[in-house]
Amino acid sequence: MAALNRLVVNADREIATIDRGIYGHFAEHLGRCIYDGFWVGEGSPVPNARGIRTDVVEALRRIRPAVLRWPGGCFAEEYHWRDGVGPRAQRPRRVNTFWGGVVETNQFGTHEFFDLCELIGAEPYICGNVSTGSPQETQEWLEYVNGEEESELVAWRRRNGRERPFGLRYFGIGNENWGCGGRMRPEYYADLYRRFQNHAKSHGPRPLFKIACGPRNDDYRWTEVLMREAAPYMDGLALHYYTRFFSSGENLTEPRGSATEFPEDEWFRLLKRAGLTEELVRRHSAIMDRYDPERRVALVVDEWGTWFGVEPGTNPHFLYQQNTMRDALVAAISLNVFNNHADRVRMAAIAQTVNVLQAMILTEGARMVLTPTYHVFDLFSVHQGARLLDTALTCADYRFGDDSIPALSSSASRGRSRAVNLTVCNTNPGSPASLECELRGARCRAASGVVLAAPAMNAHNTFDSPERVRPARFTAIRQREQAVEVELPPMSVVRLTLES
Ligand code: AHR
Repeated sequence: MAALNRLVVNADREIATIDRGIYGHFAEHLGRCIYDGFWVGEGSPVPNARGIRTDVVEALRRIRPAVLRWPGGCFAEEYHWRDGVGPRAQRPRRVNTFWGGVVETNQFGTHEFFDLCELIGAEPYICGNVSTGSPQETQEWLEYVNGEEESELVAWRRRNGRERPFGLRYFGIGNENWGCGGRMRPEYYADLYRRFQNHAKSHGPRPLFKIACGPRNDDYRWTEVLMREAAPYMDGLALHYYTRFFSSGENLTEPRGSATEFPEDEWFRLLKRAGLTEELVRRHSAIMDRYDPERRVALVVDEWGTWFGVEPGTNPHFLYQQNTMRDALVAAISLNVFNNHADRVRMAAIAQTVNVLQAMILTEGARMVLTPTYHVFDLFSVHQGARLLDTALTCADYRFGDDSIPALSSSASRGRSRAVNLTVCNTNPGSPASLECELRGARCRAASGVVLAAPAMNAHNTFDSPERVRPARFTAIRQREQAVEVELPPMSVVRLTLES
Protein backbone atom coordinates (compact mmCIF):
# COMPACT_ATOMS: atom_id res chain seq x y z
CA MET A 1 0.00 0.00 0.00
CA ALA A 2 1.44 3.39 -0.99
CA ALA A 3 1.98 6.09 1.63
CA LEU A 4 -0.92 8.44 2.29
CA ASN A 5 -0.51 11.91 0.87
CA ARG A 6 -2.71 14.86 1.67
CA LEU A 7 -3.95 17.88 -0.26
CA VAL A 8 -5.93 20.54 1.60
CA VAL A 9 -7.93 22.77 -0.73
CA ASN A 10 -9.24 26.00 0.76
CA ALA A 11 -12.17 26.60 -1.55
CA ASP A 12 -13.02 29.89 0.17
CA ARG A 13 -9.50 31.33 -0.35
CA GLU A 14 -9.08 32.52 -3.91
CA ILE A 15 -5.58 33.83 -4.61
CA ALA A 16 -5.59 35.14 -8.17
CA THR A 17 -7.09 34.58 -11.58
CA ILE A 18 -5.23 32.01 -13.63
CA ASP A 19 -4.67 34.00 -16.78
CA ARG A 20 -5.67 32.10 -19.90
CA GLY A 21 -2.34 33.29 -21.31
CA ILE A 22 -0.55 30.58 -19.31
CA TYR A 23 -1.99 28.09 -21.80
CA GLY A 24 -0.12 29.58 -24.74
CA HIS A 25 1.95 28.09 -27.54
CA PHE A 26 4.95 28.96 -29.67
CA ALA A 27 5.41 28.48 -33.42
CA GLU A 28 8.69 29.30 -35.10
CA HIS A 29 9.95 29.06 -38.66
CA LEU A 30 11.98 26.05 -37.64
CA GLY A 31 11.99 22.57 -39.14
CA ARG A 32 8.44 21.46 -39.91
CA CYS A 33 6.53 23.62 -37.45
CA ILE A 34 5.23 26.34 -39.78
CA TYR A 35 5.71 24.55 -43.11
CA ASP A 36 4.03 21.10 -43.05
CA GLY A 37 2.83 21.55 -39.47
CA PHE A 38 0.51 24.48 -40.10
CA TRP A 39 1.02 25.67 -43.63
CA VAL A 40 0.55 23.32 -46.56
CA GLY A 41 -0.54 25.90 -49.13
CA GLU A 42 -3.85 26.29 -50.87
CA GLY A 43 -3.12 23.75 -53.59
CA SER A 44 -2.13 20.97 -51.20
CA PRO A 45 -3.89 17.58 -51.16
CA VAL A 46 -3.86 17.92 -47.34
CA PRO A 47 -7.27 19.39 -46.43
CA ASN A 48 -6.78 23.06 -45.60
CA ALA A 49 -8.47 26.39 -45.18
CA ARG A 50 -6.66 29.12 -47.09
CA GLY A 51 -3.44 27.03 -46.94
CA ILE A 52 -3.63 26.16 -43.22
CA ARG A 53 -4.21 22.50 -42.45
CA THR A 54 -7.67 21.75 -41.11
CA ASP A 55 -6.86 18.73 -38.92
CA VAL A 56 -4.30 20.67 -36.89
CA VAL A 57 -6.63 23.64 -36.52
CA GLU A 58 -9.48 21.46 -35.30
CA ALA A 59 -7.29 19.62 -32.80
CA LEU A 60 -5.84 22.82 -31.40
CA ARG A 61 -9.23 24.47 -31.03
CA ARG A 62 -10.21 21.67 -28.67
CA ILE A 63 -7.49 22.58 -26.16
CA ARG A 64 -8.28 26.32 -26.35
CA PRO A 65 -4.82 27.71 -27.13
CA ALA A 66 -4.74 31.10 -25.44
CA VAL A 67 -1.84 32.72 -27.24
CA LEU A 68 0.37 31.92 -30.23
CA ARG A 69 3.89 33.38 -30.29
CA TRP A 70 5.52 33.85 -33.71
CA PRO A 71 7.77 34.03 -35.84
CA GLY A 72 10.54 32.94 -33.42
CA GLY A 73 12.66 32.31 -31.45
CA CYS A 74 16.06 32.91 -32.93
CA PHE A 75 14.41 33.19 -36.35
CA ALA A 76 12.66 36.39 -35.24
CA GLU A 77 16.00 38.11 -34.88
CA GLU A 78 16.73 37.81 -38.61
CA TYR A 79 13.14 38.21 -39.80
CA HIS A 80 12.07 41.24 -41.76
CA TRP A 81 8.31 41.51 -41.89
CA ARG A 82 8.09 43.07 -45.35
CA ASP A 83 9.38 39.75 -46.78
CA GLY A 84 6.16 38.07 -45.68
CA VAL A 85 3.44 40.35 -47.02
CA GLY A 86 2.05 40.97 -50.49
CA PRO A 87 1.40 38.46 -53.29
CA ARG A 88 2.94 35.14 -52.31
CA ALA A 89 4.48 34.51 -55.70
CA GLN A 90 6.54 37.67 -55.34
CA ARG A 91 7.84 37.11 -51.85
CA PRO A 92 11.62 36.77 -51.56
CA ARG A 93 13.37 33.53 -50.77
CA ARG A 94 15.83 33.88 -47.89
CA VAL A 95 18.13 31.55 -45.99
CA ASN A 96 17.02 30.47 -42.53
CA THR A 97 20.51 30.71 -41.06
CA PHE A 98 19.49 29.56 -37.61
CA TRP A 99 17.69 26.38 -38.52
CA GLY A 100 19.64 24.34 -41.04
CA GLY A 101 20.27 26.96 -43.72
CA VAL A 102 17.11 25.92 -45.52
CA VAL A 103 15.31 28.28 -47.87
CA GLU A 104 12.58 30.32 -46.24
CA THR A 105 9.97 30.95 -48.90
CA ASN A 106 8.00 33.48 -46.88
CA GLN A 107 4.75 31.89 -47.99
CA PHE A 108 3.63 32.17 -44.39
CA GLY A 109 3.83 35.77 -43.20
CA THR A 110 1.89 38.35 -41.22
CA HIS A 111 -1.54 37.86 -42.85
CA GLU A 112 -1.28 34.08 -42.70
CA PHE A 113 -0.27 34.27 -39.04
CA PHE A 114 -3.31 36.32 -38.06
CA ASP A 115 -5.50 34.02 -40.10
CA LEU A 116 -4.10 31.02 -38.22
CA CYS A 117 -4.69 32.71 -34.84
CA GLU A 118 -8.26 33.46 -35.81
CA LEU A 119 -8.81 29.86 -36.91
CA ILE A 120 -7.49 28.34 -33.69
CA GLY A 121 -8.93 31.05 -31.44
CA ALA A 122 -5.59 32.24 -30.01
CA GLU A 123 -4.41 35.78 -29.21
CA PRO A 124 -1.54 36.63 -31.57
CA TYR A 125 1.82 37.42 -29.98
CA ILE A 126 4.50 38.74 -32.34
CA CYS A 127 8.16 38.76 -31.40
CA GLY A 128 9.98 41.69 -33.02
CA ASN A 129 13.52 41.88 -34.34
CA VAL A 130 16.00 43.86 -32.24
CA SER A 131 19.31 42.36 -33.28
CA THR A 132 19.17 42.86 -37.06
CA GLY A 133 16.08 45.06 -37.13
CA SER A 134 15.54 48.68 -36.28
CA PRO A 135 13.14 50.80 -34.24
CA GLN A 136 11.76 52.08 -37.54
CA GLU A 137 11.00 48.56 -38.75
CA THR A 138 9.24 47.85 -35.46
CA GLN A 139 7.21 51.03 -35.68
CA GLU A 140 6.19 50.34 -39.28
CA TRP A 141 5.22 46.71 -38.68
CA LEU A 142 2.93 47.79 -35.88
CA GLU A 143 1.42 50.55 -38.00
CA TYR A 144 0.84 48.06 -40.82
CA VAL A 145 -0.79 45.56 -38.46
CA ASN A 146 -2.83 47.79 -36.18
CA GLY A 147 -3.08 51.16 -37.94
CA GLU A 148 -6.45 52.77 -38.61
CA GLU A 149 -5.09 55.98 -40.07
CA GLU A 150 -5.14 56.79 -43.78
CA SER A 151 -1.42 56.09 -44.12
CA GLU A 152 0.56 54.45 -46.89
CA LEU A 153 1.24 51.34 -44.77
CA VAL A 154 -2.43 50.95 -43.84
CA ALA A 155 -3.38 51.34 -47.49
CA TRP A 156 -0.85 48.60 -48.34
CA ARG A 157 -2.39 46.28 -45.75
CA ARG A 158 -5.80 46.94 -47.27
CA ARG A 159 -4.55 46.21 -50.77
CA ASN A 160 -3.16 42.95 -49.36
CA GLY A 161 -6.62 41.93 -48.31
CA ARG A 162 -7.15 43.14 -44.76
CA GLU A 163 -9.44 46.12 -44.35
CA ARG A 164 -9.69 46.29 -40.53
CA PRO A 165 -6.68 46.47 -38.20
CA PHE A 166 -5.57 43.09 -36.93
CA GLY A 167 -5.77 44.22 -33.31
CA LEU A 168 -2.45 42.80 -32.14
CA ARG A 169 -1.99 43.15 -28.38
CA TYR A 170 1.17 41.22 -27.43
CA PHE A 171 4.49 42.38 -28.82
CA GLY A 172 7.93 41.13 -27.77
CA ILE A 173 10.98 43.37 -28.10
CA GLY A 174 13.51 40.79 -29.18
CA ASN A 175 14.24 37.15 -28.44
CA GLU A 176 17.07 35.75 -26.33
CA ASN A 177 19.13 38.89 -26.77
CA TRP A 178 21.65 37.36 -24.36
CA GLY A 179 22.18 34.56 -26.95
CA CYS A 180 21.06 34.12 -30.56
CA GLY A 181 19.49 37.58 -30.46
CA GLY A 182 22.76 39.49 -30.35
CA ARG A 183 24.81 38.15 -27.42
CA MET A 184 24.18 41.32 -25.50
CA ARG A 185 24.91 42.25 -21.93
CA PRO A 186 21.82 43.09 -19.88
CA GLU A 187 22.91 46.73 -19.51
CA TYR A 188 23.17 47.12 -23.29
CA TYR A 189 19.90 45.30 -23.99
CA ALA A 190 18.07 47.31 -21.30
CA ASP A 191 18.97 50.51 -23.15
CA LEU A 192 18.01 49.00 -26.50
CA TYR A 193 14.75 47.81 -24.97
CA ARG A 194 13.95 51.34 -23.82
CA ARG A 195 14.69 52.67 -27.28
CA PHE A 196 12.76 50.04 -29.28
CA GLN A 197 9.72 50.05 -27.01
CA ASN A 198 9.50 53.80 -27.45
CA HIS A 199 8.72 53.24 -31.12
CA ALA A 200 6.46 50.26 -30.54
CA LYS A 201 3.34 52.40 -30.76
CA SER A 202 -0.21 51.48 -29.92
CA HIS A 203 -2.85 52.20 -32.55
CA GLY A 204 -6.55 52.22 -31.82
CA PRO A 205 -8.18 51.61 -28.46
CA ARG A 206 -6.16 48.58 -27.36
CA PRO A 207 -2.79 49.45 -25.81
CA LEU A 208 0.11 47.21 -26.75
CA PHE A 209 1.37 44.81 -24.11
CA LYS A 210 5.14 45.05 -24.42
CA ILE A 211 7.30 42.11 -23.43
CA ALA A 212 11.02 42.50 -22.77
CA CYS A 213 13.55 39.75 -23.34
CA GLY A 214 14.10 38.27 -19.92
CA PRO A 215 16.55 35.80 -18.46
CA ARG A 216 17.67 32.39 -19.48
CA ASN A 217 17.23 29.80 -16.71
CA ASP A 218 18.80 31.10 -13.49
CA ASP A 219 20.41 34.27 -14.82
CA TYR A 220 19.12 36.38 -11.94
CA ARG A 221 21.44 39.22 -12.81
CA TRP A 222 19.65 39.70 -16.12
CA THR A 223 16.33 40.05 -14.32
CA GLU A 224 17.85 42.44 -11.79
CA VAL A 225 19.30 44.75 -14.45
CA LEU A 226 16.22 44.71 -16.67
CA MET A 227 13.87 45.45 -13.81
CA ARG A 228 16.14 48.15 -12.44
CA GLU A 229 16.62 49.90 -15.77
CA ALA A 230 13.40 49.33 -17.67
CA ALA A 231 10.52 48.06 -15.50
CA PRO A 232 8.29 51.13 -16.00
CA TYR A 233 8.43 50.62 -19.77
CA MET A 234 7.42 46.97 -19.88
CA ASP A 235 4.28 44.93 -19.28
CA GLY A 236 5.98 41.57 -19.30
CA LEU A 237 9.43 40.04 -18.84
CA ALA A 238 10.11 36.79 -20.68
CA LEU A 239 11.78 33.77 -19.06
CA HIS A 240 13.11 30.84 -21.11
CA TYR A 241 13.65 27.52 -19.44
CA TYR A 242 14.00 24.23 -21.29
CA THR A 243 13.90 20.92 -19.43
CA ARG A 244 16.93 19.09 -20.80
CA PHE A 245 20.11 17.45 -19.69
CA PHE A 246 22.50 20.00 -21.13
CA SER A 247 22.02 23.68 -20.82
CA SER A 248 23.58 25.37 -23.82
CA GLY A 249 20.89 24.55 -26.36
CA GLU A 250 22.94 26.07 -29.17
CA ASN A 251 25.27 23.22 -29.95
CA LEU A 252 22.99 20.81 -31.72
CA THR A 253 25.50 17.99 -31.70
CA GLU A 254 25.65 17.93 -27.90
CA PRO A 255 24.28 14.65 -26.52
CA ARG A 256 20.77 15.23 -25.23
CA GLY A 257 19.35 11.78 -24.66
CA SER A 258 16.59 10.13 -26.57
CA ALA A 259 12.96 11.18 -26.32
CA THR A 260 11.80 7.58 -26.28
CA GLU A 261 14.68 5.29 -25.21
CA PHE A 262 15.72 6.04 -21.65
CA PRO A 263 16.28 4.31 -18.33
CA GLU A 264 14.57 5.30 -15.09
CA ASP A 265 17.63 7.36 -14.19
CA GLU A 266 16.84 9.72 -17.08
CA TRP A 267 13.15 9.77 -16.21
CA PHE A 268 14.03 10.83 -12.67
CA ARG A 269 16.67 13.39 -13.63
CA LEU A 270 14.43 15.03 -16.18
CA LEU A 271 11.49 15.36 -13.81
CA LYS A 272 13.83 16.79 -11.23
CA ARG A 273 14.82 19.45 -13.75
CA ALA A 274 11.15 20.15 -14.49
CA GLY A 275 10.69 20.71 -10.75
CA LEU A 276 13.33 23.48 -10.93
CA THR A 277 10.70 25.60 -12.67
CA GLU A 278 9.27 26.30 -9.22
CA GLU A 279 12.55 27.71 -7.93
CA LEU A 280 13.18 29.76 -11.08
CA VAL A 281 9.73 31.32 -11.01
CA ARG A 282 9.95 32.02 -7.29
CA ARG A 283 13.41 33.62 -7.43
CA HIS A 284 12.86 35.70 -10.58
CA SER A 285 9.53 36.84 -9.10
CA ALA A 286 11.23 37.83 -5.85
CA ILE A 287 13.60 40.11 -7.79
CA MET A 288 10.68 41.55 -9.75
CA ASP A 289 8.81 42.16 -6.47
CA ARG A 290 11.53 44.55 -5.35
CA TYR A 291 11.03 46.81 -8.37
CA ASP A 292 7.37 46.09 -8.96
CA PRO A 293 5.66 45.27 -5.65
CA GLU A 294 2.23 45.72 -7.24
CA ARG A 295 3.04 42.86 -9.64
CA ARG A 296 2.05 44.90 -12.66
CA VAL A 297 4.77 43.37 -14.84
CA ALA A 298 3.96 39.79 -15.82
CA LEU A 299 6.54 37.02 -15.86
CA VAL A 300 6.02 35.53 -19.32
CA VAL A 301 7.52 32.05 -19.65
CA ASP A 302 7.37 32.18 -23.40
CA GLU A 303 9.67 29.26 -24.15
CA TRP A 304 9.53 26.12 -22.05
CA GLY A 305 9.38 22.38 -22.52
CA THR A 306 11.57 19.34 -23.11
CA TRP A 307 14.49 19.21 -25.51
CA PHE A 308 15.95 15.84 -26.56
CA GLY A 309 18.02 14.50 -29.41
CA VAL A 310 16.07 14.43 -32.67
CA GLU A 311 14.32 11.32 -33.93
CA PRO A 312 16.84 9.05 -35.72
CA GLY A 313 17.19 9.87 -39.39
CA THR A 314 15.74 13.38 -39.13
CA ASN A 315 17.56 16.67 -39.71
CA PRO A 316 19.37 17.63 -36.46
CA HIS A 317 18.51 21.27 -37.10
CA PHE A 318 14.78 20.58 -37.28
CA LEU A 319 14.42 19.55 -33.61
CA TYR A 320 11.79 16.92 -34.33
CA GLN A 321 11.29 14.72 -31.27
CA GLN A 322 8.75 12.16 -30.08
CA ASN A 323 6.71 12.76 -26.97
CA THR A 324 6.05 10.22 -24.18
CA MET A 325 4.48 9.94 -20.75
CA ARG A 326 7.65 11.61 -19.46
CA ASP A 327 6.80 14.73 -21.48
CA ALA A 328 3.26 14.58 -20.11
CA LEU A 329 4.66 14.67 -16.57
CA VAL A 330 6.98 17.59 -17.40
CA ALA A 331 4.01 19.50 -18.83
CA ALA A 332 1.83 18.79 -15.80
CA ILE A 333 4.54 19.75 -13.28
CA SER A 334 5.28 22.99 -15.17
CA LEU A 335 1.64 24.01 -15.63
CA ASN A 336 0.96 23.36 -11.93
CA VAL A 337 3.85 25.70 -11.09
CA PHE A 338 2.55 28.41 -13.43
CA ASN A 339 -0.96 28.09 -11.98
CA ASN A 340 0.35 28.29 -8.43
CA HIS A 341 2.23 31.50 -9.31
CA ALA A 342 -0.64 33.05 -11.26
CA ASP A 343 -0.19 36.31 -9.37
CA ARG A 344 3.05 36.85 -11.35
CA VAL A 345 3.05 34.36 -14.24
CA ARG A 346 0.37 35.58 -16.61
CA MET A 347 1.55 34.12 -19.88
CA ALA A 348 3.57 31.14 -21.06
CA ALA A 349 4.22 29.44 -24.37
CA ILE A 350 5.35 25.85 -24.69
CA ALA A 351 7.90 25.17 -27.43
CA GLN A 352 6.67 24.34 -29.99
CA THR A 353 3.16 23.63 -31.20
CA VAL A 354 3.71 21.18 -34.08
CA ASN A 355 6.65 18.93 -35.07
CA VAL A 356 9.28 20.77 -33.01
CA LEU A 357 10.51 20.00 -29.46
CA GLN A 358 7.68 19.30 -26.98
CA ALA A 359 4.91 19.43 -29.54
CA MET A 360 1.17 19.07 -29.10
CA ILE A 361 0.87 17.51 -32.53
CA LEU A 362 3.10 15.57 -34.91
CA THR A 363 2.37 15.37 -38.61
CA GLU A 364 3.53 13.16 -41.45
CA GLY A 365 2.06 14.04 -44.82
CA ALA A 366 -1.70 14.12 -44.36
CA ARG A 367 -1.50 12.18 -41.07
CA MET A 368 -1.52 13.70 -37.63
CA VAL A 369 -0.98 12.36 -34.14
CA LEU A 370 -1.81 13.94 -30.79
CA THR A 371 0.94 13.66 -28.19
CA PRO A 372 0.62 12.94 -24.45
CA THR A 373 1.46 16.62 -23.91
CA TYR A 374 -1.60 17.58 -25.96
CA HIS A 375 -3.75 15.56 -23.60
CA VAL A 376 -2.25 17.30 -20.56
CA PHE A 377 -3.18 20.67 -22.06
CA ASP A 378 -6.66 19.30 -22.63
CA LEU A 379 -6.98 18.14 -19.00
CA PHE A 380 -5.64 21.43 -17.65
CA SER A 381 -7.77 23.67 -19.88
CA VAL A 382 -10.39 23.94 -17.09
CA HIS A 383 -7.97 26.22 -15.22
CA GLN A 384 -8.03 28.87 -17.93
CA GLY A 385 -9.45 32.07 -16.47
CA ALA A 386 -10.48 30.27 -13.26
CA ARG A 387 -9.67 31.44 -9.73
CA LEU A 388 -6.58 29.85 -8.22
CA LEU A 389 -7.34 28.33 -4.82
CA ASP A 390 -5.07 28.20 -1.82
CA THR A 391 -3.81 24.64 -1.32
CA ALA A 392 -1.38 22.81 0.92
CA LEU A 393 0.14 19.59 -0.37
CA THR A 394 2.09 17.19 1.82
CA CYS A 395 3.41 14.17 0.01
CA ALA A 396 5.94 11.38 0.06
CA ASP A 397 9.12 11.50 -1.97
CA TYR A 398 9.84 9.60 -5.11
CA ARG A 399 13.31 8.26 -4.36
CA PHE A 400 15.84 7.19 -6.95
CA GLY A 401 19.32 6.16 -5.83
CA ASP A 402 20.46 8.69 -3.24
CA ASP A 403 18.22 11.40 -4.55
CA SER A 404 14.54 12.27 -4.29
CA ILE A 405 11.86 14.59 -5.64
CA PRO A 406 8.29 15.14 -4.43
CA ALA A 407 6.11 12.29 -5.65
CA LEU A 408 3.21 14.61 -6.36
CA SER A 409 2.53 18.04 -7.80
CA SER A 410 -0.82 19.81 -7.83
CA SER A 411 -2.85 22.96 -8.35
CA ALA A 412 -6.51 23.80 -7.85
CA SER A 413 -8.95 26.35 -9.18
CA ARG A 414 -12.60 27.22 -9.17
CA GLY A 415 -14.31 28.17 -12.39
CA ARG A 416 -17.55 29.92 -13.21
CA SER A 417 -19.56 26.77 -12.62
CA ARG A 418 -18.28 26.86 -9.00
CA ALA A 419 -16.84 23.36 -9.40
CA VAL A 420 -13.35 22.90 -7.96
CA ASN A 421 -10.83 21.40 -10.36
CA LEU A 422 -7.63 19.79 -9.12
CA THR A 423 -4.80 18.69 -11.37
CA VAL A 424 -2.44 16.26 -9.71
CA CYS A 425 0.38 14.14 -11.02
CA ASN A 426 2.30 11.19 -9.67
CA THR A 427 5.93 11.34 -10.78
CA ASN A 428 6.80 7.86 -9.53
CA PRO A 429 6.86 5.34 -12.39
CA GLY A 430 6.99 2.38 -10.02
CA SER A 431 4.25 2.93 -7.50
CA PRO A 432 0.74 4.29 -7.18
CA ALA A 433 -0.03 7.04 -4.68
CA SER A 434 -3.01 7.31 -2.37
CA LEU A 435 -4.06 10.90 -1.95
CA GLU A 436 -6.61 12.37 0.41
CA CYS A 437 -8.04 15.67 -0.83
CA GLU A 438 -9.79 17.66 1.83
CA LEU A 439 -12.08 20.40 0.68
CA ARG A 440 -12.42 23.25 3.17
CA GLY A 441 -14.92 26.08 2.84
CA ALA A 442 -17.25 24.18 0.54
CA ARG A 443 -19.15 20.92 0.45
CA CYS A 444 -18.19 18.23 -1.98
CA ARG A 445 -21.40 16.93 -3.51
CA ALA A 446 -19.94 14.79 -6.27
CA ALA A 447 -16.51 13.91 -7.60
CA SER A 448 -15.38 12.77 -11.01
CA GLY A 449 -12.08 12.59 -12.83
CA VAL A 450 -10.04 12.01 -15.95
CA VAL A 451 -6.68 10.26 -16.00
CA LEU A 452 -3.74 10.11 -18.38
CA ALA A 453 -1.60 7.07 -17.61
CA ALA A 454 0.29 4.35 -19.45
CA PRO A 455 2.06 1.11 -18.59
CA ALA A 456 5.53 2.28 -19.70
CA MET A 457 7.62 5.39 -19.08
CA ASN A 458 8.22 5.78 -22.80
CA ALA A 459 4.64 5.11 -23.92
CA HIS A 460 3.85 7.35 -26.87
CA ASN A 461 1.56 7.72 -29.82
CA THR A 462 2.68 6.97 -33.35
CA PHE A 463 1.07 7.41 -36.73
CA ASP A 464 0.26 3.70 -36.74
CA SER A 465 -0.88 3.56 -33.10
CA PRO A 466 -2.19 7.04 -32.39
CA GLU A 467 -4.26 6.16 -29.31
CA ARG A 468 -1.80 4.33 -27.09
CA VAL A 469 -1.71 7.23 -24.64
CA ARG A 470 -5.03 8.94 -24.23
CA PRO A 471 -7.19 10.16 -21.36
CA ALA A 472 -9.71 7.84 -19.73
CA ARG A 473 -12.38 8.16 -17.08
CA PHE A 474 -10.86 8.08 -13.61
CA THR A 475 -12.77 5.88 -11.23
CA ALA A 476 -10.37 5.28 -8.32
CA ILE A 477 -12.24 7.83 -6.19
CA ARG A 478 -13.78 7.29 -2.75
CA GLN A 479 -15.99 10.15 -1.74
CA ARG A 480 -16.68 11.33 1.75
CA GLU A 481 -18.50 14.50 2.80
CA GLN A 482 -15.54 16.89 3.02
CA ALA A 483 -12.91 14.81 1.31
CA VAL A 484 -12.18 12.40 -1.48
CA GLU A 485 -9.60 9.67 -1.49
CA VAL A 486 -8.02 8.80 -4.78
CA GLU A 487 -5.51 6.25 -5.94
CA LEU A 488 -3.22 7.80 -8.54
CA PRO A 489 -1.65 5.24 -10.89
CA PRO A 490 2.13 5.27 -11.27
CA MET A 491 3.35 8.05 -13.63
CA SER A 492 -0.03 9.60 -14.14
CA VAL A 493 -1.74 12.95 -14.56
CA VAL A 494 -5.23 13.25 -13.10
CA ARG A 495 -7.88 15.94 -13.21
CA LEU A 496 -10.44 15.76 -10.41
CA THR A 497 -13.62 17.77 -10.44
CA LEU A 498 -15.36 18.32 -7.13
CA GLU A 499 -18.88 19.66 -7.48
CA SER A 500 -19.53 21.93 -4.54
O1 AHR B 1 12.72 26.82 -29.57
C1 AHR B 1 13.94 26.67 -30.22
C2 AHR B 1 14.91 27.80 -29.89
O2 AHR B 1 15.23 27.75 -28.54
C3 AHR B 1 14.40 29.20 -30.09
O3 AHR B 1 14.53 29.64 -31.39
C4 AHR B 1 15.28 30.00 -29.18
O4 AHR B 1 14.65 31.16 -28.72
C5 AHR B 1 15.62 29.03 -28.08
O5 AHR B 1 16.98 29.01 -27.79
